Amino acid sequence: MNASQQVLPAATRSVILAVEELYRSADQTTTGATDDAALARAIIRLSDLYTSERRSLSREQADEDHLIAKCGYFLASDAPKVVLALQEAAARSTSFAQLSRLDCVRVLDLGAGVGATSCGFLAWLAAARSQAHANATQDRRMRVELHAFELGAPAARAYEQSVRVAAEAANVDVEVHVEARDFRHKSVPALAQASDVILCQTALNELLVEDHVDPRHLPATVDMVAQWARAAPLLLIEPALRSTTRALMALRDALVAHSAAQPAATVVAPCLHQHACPMRAKVDDWCHEARRVEPTPRVAALDRIVGRRDGRALFAYLATVPFRKGAPNSVVPESAIRIVTDTLGSRGKTERVVCRADGELRLMRLLDRESRPENALFVEGERGMAVTVNPMPANDRIGPEVVVAPLAPIGEG
Ligand SMILES: C[S@@+](CC[C@H](N)C(=O)[O-])C[C@H]1O[C@@H](n2cnc3c(N)ncnc32)[C@H](O)[C@@H]1O
Repeated sequence: MNASQQVLPAATRSVILAVEELYRSADQTTTGATDDAALARAIIRLSDLYTSERRSLSREQADEDHLIAKCGYFLASDAPKVVLALQEAAARSTSFAQLSRLDCVRVLDLGAGVGATSCGFLAWLAAARSQAHANATQDRRMRVELHAFELGAPAARAYEQSVRVAAEAANVDVEVHVEARDFRHKSVPALAQASDVILCQTALNELLVEDHVDPRHLPATVDMVAQWARAAPLLLIEPALRSTTRALMALRDALVAHSAAQPAATVVAPCLHQHACPMRAKVDDWCHEARRVEPTPRVAALDRIVGRRDGRALFAYLATVPFRKGAPNSVVPESAIRIVTDTLGSRGKTERVVCRADGELRLMRLLDRESRPENALFVEGERGMAVTVNPMPANDRIGPEVVVAPLAPIGEG
């Protein structure tokens, strides 16, 4: 493991490993041996479809041929993104945090694929519950009701297998209902209302019209997502590509728009404020995470074969809760910033763009000669990390007396 990688909690990791093992042993049963080279070719084909060949994405990606890559690799490599996003959302929002304390949690997974998102949820839940129970006297068994929509019938079948194995590893009872149909179906709004959380990972972008200078979703898509956001806590995850992330940023602004009679939602993560996204001003900027997470040994081995050496989990996300009139928008301290670039190397100093709790984008800097263990997180923190800066310098220069620390958990409203 790389020293800078985040280690997922043991309970989380064992859920992801259990699902990975399901497909590894299935592969060995059918072929007699795991053909890593064939799997690597399938991973590259599907990655190309997600990135450079996006025009054929919605037509081709539900194809049965891609299942081998989805089950054998993307499931275990994408589930941690859901875990990271939920960890952050739960640290900022009581509505997300309390999901792990319910006796029964109802989850709506839209564009569920082979189950990376629901498995990621179960993996997060396993750790959140084991942490909660470390402090509790009684360990009640939890029930998870998963309702999934997935266009592709082969993926929908795999989904059920994946989540059953994940639920067993997470030590929860599960009820699974998968519908092999479009999530724009008329039944979804009522299901959303009856859900405790709605998840949608890398599926919305398939509705995106790609030809814009500054891509945006169609008004019908925005209205549909606003309906989900009004109904329950919502987690959207999208690929960290300019087009898909810019569309998510525009969608975020539409959900919190104060010009509307009432905003649909309050953002709990990753943004620290409810103002318009300041990064939308430049069409070549897009706001995404780059997190070092320890991969499973199998994902690490496949990454080496396909030539992915960086190993960072790249994704963009948005976690919201329904807007409540009268609730304070945010309890984020004024000293909080979110680091939204990698380190920008300049001679004798480190510069990074940060998004502040007041909604301003600033270029902050730390001179090498003024760096101290107390402010080192400004340099070492990953892109996407939220920290506090005390005292906040008026001139954006972090001096030797400034303490940069991780943002402590806070609740919404
Ligand atoms: C990239 S995969 C991601 C799957 C899963 N959310 C995950 O994180 O692994 C996108 C999935 O969304 C499904 N999808 C896209 N648009 C959809 C729609 N309108 N209704 C239902 N499923 C959809 C696709 O068939 C595909 O399986």
